[in-house]
Amino acid sequence: MSKILVAYFSASGVTAKVAGNLADAVGADLYEIAPEVPYTKADLNWMNKKSRSSVEMADMSSRPAIATKVDNMDQYDVIILGFPIWWYREPSIIDTFAEAYDFEGKTVVVFATSGGSGLGDSAANIKALAAGADVRNGERFPGSTSQDKLRAWAEKYIGG
Ligand SMILES: Cc1cc2nc3c(=O)[nH]c(=O)nc-3n(C[C@H](O)[C@H](O)[C@H](O)COP(=O)(O)O)c2cc1C
Repeated sequence: MSKILVAYFSASGVTAKVAGNLADAVGADLYEIAPEVPYTKADLNWMNKKSRSSVEMADMSSRPAIATKVDNMDQYDVIILGFPIWWYREPSIIDTFAEAYDFEGKTVVVFATSGGSGLGDSAANIKALAAGADVRNGERFPGSTSQDKLRAWAEKYIGG
């Protein structure tokens, strides 16, 4: 059986809820991609071109620091990677995560929550950064998605 990690970033809790339900549903370990400097409400203001998130997202090379490391990434076969869609793609801190490990031989499945946008180029962007990973484009989930639905989705990648 595959050993699975659900790794997620969440600024306001929606992705955290889905990630927690997913990890419960499939018996995976759960890891939060916590920013070294947490995002304030002002940082998240997409109406302000000078807010932290606007500045980071306008720069494809932005790599906000992550506070912790995954314990022994080697043990995982499948990493289910979740995040909110920011400006139609993965937040910059997900790029930091993608570059931080050797993913050789691992499957990385991406999922997102959003106000309505799909995953856009997220999976392709992550594939370009995550060395050796077999990156799969997953799905956008509403925060209220049931554990049954999440389990059925994940089983496509983890082999039941
Ligand atoms: C800076 C920023 C940019 C966003 N850009 C988009 C977007 O392009 N499309 C969209 O549908 N939602 C967008 N959203 C909304 C979030 O994707 C949505 O609220 C998400 O569920 C939040 O997840 P979280 O609570 O885990 O942080 C954006 C939110 C923020 C803070």
